[in-house]
Amino acid sequence: MARESFSAFLFLVIFSIANCDNVTLNNHFFPANFKFGAATAAYQIEGGWDEDGKGLNLWDWYTHTYPDRITNEFTGDVACDSYHKWKEDIQLLKDLGANHYRLSLSWSRILPDGTINNVNQKGVNYYKNLLETLRANNIEPMVTLYHWDLPLSLHELGGWLNPLTADYFAEYARLSFQLFGNYVKTWITLNEPQTTCVQGYGNGEKAPGYNHSGEGVYQCAYTHILAHAKAYHIYDKEFRTQQQGRVSIVLDSAWAEPASNKTEDQIAGATAMAFSMGLYANPIYNGNWPQIVIDRVGNRSANEGFSRSRLPEFTQEQLEFIKGTSDFFCLNSYATDHTEYQNGPDDNIGDPSYVLDIGVRQWKDESWKSVVNWVDLVPWGFRKLINYVWNTYGVNEIVITENGWADVESILEDDDRITYISQFLSALLDAVYEDNVNVTGYTVWSLLDNFEWTNGYTQKLGIVQVNFTDPNRTRTPKSSYTWYQNVLSTRCLVEKCEE
Ligand SMILES: *[C@@H]1O[C@H](CO)[C@@H](O)[C@H](O)[C@H]1NC(C)=O
Ligand SMILES: *[C@@H]1O[C@H](CO)[C@@H](O)[C@H](O)[C@H]1NC(C)=O
Ligand SMILES: *[C@@H]1O[C@H](CO)[C@@H](O)[C@H](O)[C@H]1NC(C)=O
Ligand SMILES: *[C@@H]1O[C@H](CO)[C@@H](O)[C@H](O)[C@H]1NC(C)=O
Ligand SMILES: *[C@@H]1O[C@H](CO)[C@@H](O)[C@H](O)[C@H]1NC(C)=O
Ligand SMILES: *[C@@H]1O[C@H](CO)[C@@H](O)[C@H](O)[C@H]1NC(C)=O
Ligand SMILES: *[C@@H]1O[C@H](CO)[C@@H](O)[C@H](O)[C@H]1NC(C)=O
Repeated sequence: MARESFSAFLFLVIFSIANCDNVTLNNHFFPANFKFGAATAAYQIEGGWDEDGKGLNLWDWYTHTYPDRITNEFTGDVACDSYHKWKEDIQLLKDLGANHYRLSLSWSRILPDGTINNVNQKGVNYYKNLLETLRANNIEPMVTLYHWDLPLSLHELGGWLNPLTADYFAEYARLSFQLFGNYVKTWITLNEPQTTCVQGYGNGEKAPGYNHSGEGVYQCAYTHILAHAKAYHIYDKEFRTQQQGRVSIVLDSAWAEPASNKTEDQIAGATAMAFSMGLYANPIYNGNWPQIVIDRVGNRSANEGFSRSRLPEFTQEQLEFIKGTSDFFCLNSYATDHTEYQNGPDDNIGDPSYVLDIGVRQWKDESWKSVVNWVDLVPWGFRKLINYVWNTYGVNEIVITENGWADVESILEDDDRITYISQFLSALLDAVYEDNVNVTGYTVWSLLDNFEWTNGYTQKLGIVQVNFTDPNRTRTPKSSYTWYQNVLSTRCLVEKCEE
């Protein structure tokens, strides 16, 4: 055996543990300014659902009102009990060597009925202590203002279908900038509006569980985009000079891989991306909805007998107000789909439907699948998505704000999670070094096993196990935690990296 192939062989043996498919991982160091972190969200970890003056939110209401819609009738009432155990969480982050912690604020813990005329000081204190302690430990807080837990009173006023929700959000954002701006330099307005709008208002899979596929998705998107833009301008005008922070929005998408080189499948891939990512990203980064979305929804609406498009129209003033309201791009992604043409704008006219508006059929290879339908082991899809964002939205920086692997049992020796994350980080390095994309950070979802929405505690994504039957919610780091800790200190995915 030649010397080169022998060392290649040794390399494979050593790294087959972290890399069961024997994929060759990128052997460059992460760039010097590259930041690593971990993410959580308030409703998924905090618990303390009715403590210290917190108001009810959409998920408190949903889990309590429709227990049958949540696996095993679980709720987030206690979750990881981070409302009490936050110091332990920070210690875990510190031991990990995390540069940043992406967390979210519970709007109704701060403003019990969602409006600024009633501030809950105990809720404010909780976050002040948490943020101050993160800073003291040299962990940069990356704060999401809204991660799906809308104050219930605002939901009753129409939630994301009510354009005034954008104004309530803007006022809450201003208050948060005032209260926490000393500690927070990286603000994220909204988390994954696509998931809220499609699953909350389109197919009923998540709270509030509405099936208004043909109209709800777009009205929800409209209000989210206005809410984001208002909060961005408030920061820009009133806080930026003094606080010197940055503001963005987290957008999510799977990668839509065209099923073939046939023109119709190429268009199907582009259409799927326009409806999943473009609906939110295009107004913010390029101005207005993607043209393909305007045309398809417009044509179908006309065919369905509407007098105007089901897609709300932005005024010229709104378009200008929205465009450019982001300082960097925050990307969440876990999955890839083969995507092929299914129907054109004139076909299958019947009930208004977001799915028929897109008009594609999607599926996954068996070998890609995890135990959940939204996480696939397709690192090349992740790289293509990163390139797509870079090339489509003209941004100068991308931060990965979520990515991770799911299992159903909380396995401490979680080699599959290590395989997934190592291959996705390797694909990220390929994007950086081979495609020249400026990706500056990676945030694993999640620090902790937590309340995975309607799946309750049955989908585990933590690098730290939480024992949900233990009143103490004992935390135990998994193998992936130790592995990630090592990547953070060596800044390298393989035994020896190239300078
Ligand atoms: C990975 O490579 C090692 C060493 O060559 C081999 O023993 C193992 O079977 C391979 N695993 C897979 C999944 O191909
Ligand atoms: C919405 O549709 C889903 C199926 O897609 C169904 O399970 C659910 O019950 C529906 N929800 C409502 C509120 O009608
Ligand atoms: C599409 O064409 C490219 C270049 O010719 C080829 O590499 C690729 O395999 C083709 N893709 C499919 C899905 O046929
Ligand atoms: C239908 O789509 C075409 C582009 O294919 C566009 O020019 C036209 O304005 C659309 N019609 C409506 C009613 O949106
Ligand atoms: C990447 O983005 C960071 C933060 O905006 C910036 O400082 C850096 O110069 C950028 N790097 C490249 C190669 O553009
Ligand atoms: C979880 O905690 C319960 C109650 O303390 C205990 O009986 C059980 O063994 C723990 N499970 C694990 C996996 O540690
Ligand atoms: C709860 O967990 C903490 C931290 O792991 C530990 O110090 C404490 O002893 C535990 N309490 C009980 C009652 O198990």
